[in-house]
Amino acid sequence: MTQYLADTTRHPHTSDQPAATADWWRDAVIYQVYPRSFADGNGDGMGDLPGIRERLPYLRDLGVDAVWLSPFYASPQADAGYDVADYRAVDPMFGTLHDADGLIRDAHRLGLRIIVDLVPNHTSDQHEWFKQAVSEGPGSPLRQRYHFRPGKGAGGELPPNDWESVFGGPAWTRAADGEWYLHLFAPEQPDLNWEHPAVQDEFRSILRFWLDMGVDGFRIDVAHGLVKADGLPDIGAHEQLKLLGNDVLPFFDQDGVHEIYRSWRRILDEYSPSHSPNLRPGALPGARIAVAEAWTPTVERTANYVRSDELHQAFNFQYLATRWDAAELRAVIDRSLDAMRPVAAPTTWVLSNHDVVRHATRLSSDGKTYDVRRARAASLLMLALPGSAYVYQGEELGLPEVTDLPDELRQDPAFFRAAGQDGFRDGCRVPIPWTSEGPSHGFGSGGSWLPQPESWARLSVAEQTGDPASTLELYRAALRLRRELPGLGAGESVRWEDAPEGVLSFLRPGFVCTVNTTSEPVTLPVPGALSLASSAVEITATGVVVPADTTVWWAV
Ligand code: GLC
Repeated sequence: MTQYLADTTRHPHTSDQPAATADWWRDAVIYQVYPRSFADGNGDGMGDLPGIRERLPYLRDLGVDAVWLSPFYASPQADAGYDVADYRAVDPMFGTLHDADGLIRDAHRLGLRIIVDLVPNHTSDQHEWFKQAVSEGPGSPLRQRYHFRPGKGAGGELPPNDWESVFGGPAWTRAADGEWYLHLFAPEQPDLNWEHPAVQDEFRSILRFWLDMGVDGFRIDVAHGLVKADGLPDIGAHEQLKLLGNDVLPFFDQDGVHEIYRSWRRILDEYSPSHSPNLRPGALPGARIAVAEAWTPTVERTANYVRSDELHQAFNFQYLATRWDAAELRAVIDRSLDAMRPVAAPTTWVLSNHDVVRHATRLSSDGKTYDVRRARAASLLMLALPGSAYVYQGEELGLPEVTDLPDELRQDPAFFRAAGQDGFRDGCRVPIPWTSEGPSHGFGSGGSWLPQPESWARLSVAEQTGDPASTLELYRAALRLRRELPGLGAGESVRWEDAPEGVLSFLRPGFVCTVNTTSEPVTLPVPGALSLASSAVEITATGVVVPADTTVWWAV
């Protein structure tokens, strides 16, 4: 008997059954919306808040718990909105504050929580503070909110130290008056000086602004970067980002960042319902949370960000960076769970986001070919692990990375600063196909700011809906089971079972997950009742044949 999927009847959660506990975030599935590329409400080729608002029922039916929105604030878009000019305003290309308010309210009515992106490491060079810092000149107190320094060399013509920008080139740019300012990312993204009390006060106020708007949490951009080592010391090496895996850099993962997060946690707790008699009508109960984007040398150092008086979650980039290899996956899963256990924080799992090659391409044997079969297996493995999982828009459609974008259409600032490399970030940011026909495949009534491949028609939401073999229905079924099967997502460990080389098998309460990472089918004893499989499995009198690159969930 060949079986593909067990019953895929949809039971989306509705507002009368939200994940309503204070601890909703511990096993939440959080869906990342990249606002430029999700849905275009006004037909100008660029996604926007009204577009997202219209599509919220899709996310409710998919079965996610929360939606994280990448930045939609006023911004000149030098880094797709991660260069914020006004933290309390919506950029006109995305809509208005009124649209943001409506989106938050609609989401809550559907039982979905909203997490917004906070960008505290740097502002835009068009932020009022930076414009003042530049115009006031050297020695002005208004300059102290950023890192301005005189240069080295006889005429100050050399940067103040040897730090390199994450996007390539020196991390310093010289202002017209001769002083240099620090930017760990693009020159249009000057780093704030977090030693300055005004910077600290401003961000506490921004947190309150969005909490008052009703958001349920924040994703903290570059959470590891805010504090720089005293004296901004030289590193003495090139390709500094490669050192990140081995060492703490003077601009990343400094111990001083933790004091900032302790003060933010107090604010988040204040807004968590048991403390807030003034919770706005329609808000969902439960904690207001923050998740750190913290690139650190080890998972143990990542755990420092989620101690009980700091942030709630941190992205598990060590997991994202792991190859499709059973032994390596098992090791990173154990290490991640072990690291979080002492601080009692949930582990997070993530395979794709707006900064990395989509996992339907990245996990293939050469890292460049579309391998949706493997991606589906990886996704089912991720969704079986205890803790919280992050889903990047379009991965539920099995979208590949777009690898052939013409150079003239690219917008990733990293592309322009480091010529001759590939793997840049526009290829994972191409707008979502909603329908097989129509301009921009239903993304909007106009075009789309990055062209969608023709082949995406058959990957559209409309084409996949109702097809039990589709990746979309696989995600819907997996997320429904996550809600229904006690134990899936909960807990803080997995129990490994004996399995042949290249195969992973682990037990959770009421549930077994089997993963064949090899390129050959394997025959195994049947551990229970088939719940879901990422590709067709065959159950015979002697066992189950699990094909290559396949994950299977069993109820036991
Ligand atoms: C984070 C964002 C990335 C952005 C960078 C600078 O890594 O995820 O998209 O370019 O921060 O803000």
